Amino acid sequence: MDKIIKVGHRGASGYEPENTLLAFKKAIEIGADMIELDVRRCKSGELVVIHDETVNRTTNGKGEVSEKTLTELKGLEMEKGERIATLEEVLDFLDKKIKVNIELKDKDIAMQARAVIEQYIEENGWTYEDLLVSSFHHEELMQFKLADPEIRIGVLTEIVPPRFLKFAEEIKAYSVNVPINRIRIGFVEDAHKRGLKVFVYAANDSPEIKKAKEIGADYICSNFPDRI
Ligand code: G3P
Ligand code: CA
Repeated sequence: MDKIIKVGHRGASGYEPENTLLAFKKAIEIGADMIELDVRRCKSGELVVIHDETVNRTTNGKGEVSEKTLTELKGLEMEKGERIATLEEVLDFLDKKIKVNIELKDKDIAMQARAVIEQYIEENGWTYEDLLVSSFHHEELMQFKLADPEIRIGVLTEIVPPRFLKFAEEIKAYSVNVPINRIRIGFVEDAHKRGLKVFVYAANDSPEIKKAKEIGADYICSNFPDRI
């Protein structure tokens, strides 16, 4: 059996403010193999790393990310004085020290994200094995895969609908990314038979982590990746 990949959810967000350079640095320090981060497009067009549609929960500002320019977003403070980073800033900061799962939160950002990824693969020494692109917007993933067949895509879901694995196989996904509490018996075996990796999120306490290991998940995503 391959080694389980330990993923820091929004970085090591159990220890540092989510989706910040501090959280990504912490994930590296505590031995995560991969970080997961969330990407949206702001008003001036850049891809920025933030989970929510608005800045309200994680910064000292208010309003929608899509209604703020990068300069405006940079003027906001997160916990511990951290600032919102662009996708490029995060990739530069990580400098291939850890794998990255880029979750596309907005619709219609697949081609822009692809341009960034292509640049980091062609010019900055990143490889396809270093990266996974995931999204709940499955049409975005299909578009991405069509444009770049080598990219690894992870089909995110909150529930596991009928024929989900068949769909993931058909669109040539690399992984199926499912909540730990939604995994039914036989799911992992079925996924593996179809050549799909199983990525579970977010396993934070020990019963969840134990379950993730017992069912044979390939990737375990946690706010506390050192607990895996
Ligand atoms: O990638 C798994 C997980 O990050 C998806 O949910 O809400 O934490 O982005 P959320
Ligand atoms: Ca996410």
